[in-house]
Amino acid sequence: MGHLIPMVEFGKLILHHHPSFSVTILLVPPSFNTGSTAAYIRHISTTVPSITFHHLPLISLELDSFPSTAAVIFEVHHRSNPHIRPTLETISLSATISAFIIDIFCTCALPIGAELNIPTYYFIISGASDLALLIHFPTLHNATTKSFRDMNTLLHVPGIPPIPSSDMSKPMLDRNSMDYENFLNVTKNLPNSAGIIVNTFERLVTKPLKAIREGESNPGGRTPPVFSVGPLLASEDLHGRGHDCLNWLDKQPCKSVVYLCFGSLGLFSAAQLKEIAVGLERSGQRFLWVVRSPPSDDKSKRFLPPPEPDLDSLLPAGFLNRTKDRGLVLKSWAPQVVVLNHESVGGFVTHCGWNSVLEAVCAAVPMVAWPLYAEQKLNRLVLVEDMKVALRLEVAEDGFVAAEEVERRVRELMESEKGREMRKVIEEKSVEARAAMREGGSSIAALGKLVELWKRA
Ligand SMILES: *[C@@H]1O[C@H](CO)[C@@H](O)[C@H](O)[C@H]1NC(C)=O
Ligand SMILES: *[C@@H]1O[C@H](CO)[C@@H](O)[C@H](O)[C@H]1NC(C)=O
Ligand SMILES: *[C@@H]1O[C@H](CO)[C@@H](O)[C@H](O)[C@H]1NC(C)=O
Repeated sequence: MGHLIPMVEFGKLILHHHPSFSVTILLVPPSFNTGSTAAYIRHISTTVPSITFHHLPLISLELDSFPSTAAVIFEVHHRSNPHIRPTLETISLSATISAFIIDIFCTCALPIGAELNIPTYYFIISGASDLALLIHFPTLHNATTKSFRDMNTLLHVPGIPPIPSSDMSKPMLDRNSMDYENFLNVTKNLPNSAGIIVNTFERLVTKPLKAIREGESNPGGRTPPVFSVGPLLASEDLHGRGHDCLNWLDKQPCKSVVYLCFGSLGLFSAAQLKEIAVGLERSGQRFLWVVRSPPSDDKSKRFLPPPEPDLDSLLPAGFLNRTKDRGLVLKSWAPQVVVLNHESVGGFVTHCGWNSVLEAVCAAVPMVAWPLYAEQKLNRLVLVEDMKVALRLEVAEDGFVAAEEVERRVRELMESEKGREMRKVIEEKSVEARAAMREGGSSIAALGKLVELWKRA
C-alpha cells in the first residue's frame, strides 16, 4: 500500500492538471497481505475511471524460502518481467505511451522501456535525502570492501548530514546478502532513466536536491533530471470519516493528544508494547495509540497479516481502565490523515516511514522519531538534524526502548520549549507544502515540465 497509494495519487495529479492523458497502472500480483490492496483498487477503479489497472498474471512462490520481504518483492517483479513488454505493446496498439514510470522494485523493466523507445522514469516513494543516498550508493560501495554494518563510522554523502554506517537501510547493511545485491543493481540503474520523479517538494529539504542536480551524488556519471511533484498523500482514508476515534478526538482539548502509529509493517514485541504503555501512562499526556499484534513466532506466518490484537493480554493489567479518561487505544488501524489533521492532535510518535512523515508535515504535527525498517533511520537523521521537526528517541542496540525514554520524549514533545519550536518550523513547512501543490507552485510546475517532455516525445 505504501508504494501503490503515492503512485495512484500521482496518476490522479496528472489527470487533474492534464486531462488529455490517460493512466494505466500495471500491478504485479500481490504475494502477501493482499486484502487491503484489493479493496483499495476497487475503490479507485470506481471513483477514478480514467485510471485503468492492469493485473499481471499470478505467480506462485514458496514464501518460506525467501530471506526477506524485499527478496520476495524483487522475485515477483523479476518473474513478472516477461509480461511487461507484451503488455506495453498491446497498450500501444490503441494509444501512444508517452512515459513509462517505474517503482525502484521494477528496475528489471528499465531496459524494456529503452527497447520500445518509451522514456522511462523512476518514481521514488521516499524523500530527496533517500534519493541522494541511493544515487551515491555505488560510489559508497566502491569505496570499501566491508559491509556497512561492520564499519562503525560516519558516511559522508553529498546533501545529507553525516550518516552512521549502521543507519543505512537494512537491505544495504550486509554486503553479502541478496537484498544488497538487488539494491546495488537498482542504484546503478537510477542514472540510466529519463528522469526521477520524487514524492517531496522543493522547499522541504533543499540540500539533497541541490547535490543531485549539481552532479555531486554521482561523480563522473550521468545525472538525470529530478522532478519533485509532492506531497502526494492518501486523499481517501477508505473508512476514515465517521471513525469512532474522531468523536473521541472531538472531546479533547486543542493540540493536547499525542498520536502513536508505526505503519503497516511496524510490529513490536509484547514486552515492548508493555513498555510503551507504562511510558505513556507515566507521561500524563493524552494519547491515541494504534496497537498491532506482535510478530508471530511461527516463521510460516511471517508474511500473513497479524491477527487482531488482544489488548487485555498485551497491555499491563488495568492500563486501559486507568487511562480511559485521557487515552484511546485502537486495534491495528487508524484513519491517519484525518487523525493528524484533527485539531486535538499535537504530536506524533512515528516509525518515520516517508508517507507518514509527509502526512505529519502537511498536518503541521511535530514528531518523535522511532525508526523501524527500510530507510527510516535516514529519515530520522533528516527530521532531527536537517528539518528540526522531530525529537530523537534513544533506542538500545537491540532496538528496545525503555518506558522512561517513552515518557521523557512524549513529555518533551508536548510540553517543552523545544517542542514548541519544532511546531513553529513544521507549521511553516506545511504552508510551503500547500503552496507547492497550488497552480504555479513548484510541484505543479515540475509536473508541467514533465508533461511538456511527454508531449514532445
Ligand atoms: C539489474 O538490472 C537490470 C536492469 O537494468 C536487469 O536487467 C538485471 O536483471 C538486474 N540484475 C539483477 C541481478 O537483478
Ligand atoms: C565502481 O567500480 C566499478 C568497477 O571498478 C566501476 O565499473 C564503476 O564505474 C564504479 N562506479 C562508481 C560509481 O564509482
Ligand atoms: C477501574 O478502576 C476503578 C478505580 O479507578 C475500579 O473501581 C474499577 O473496579 C476498575 N474496573 C475494572 C474493570 O478493572
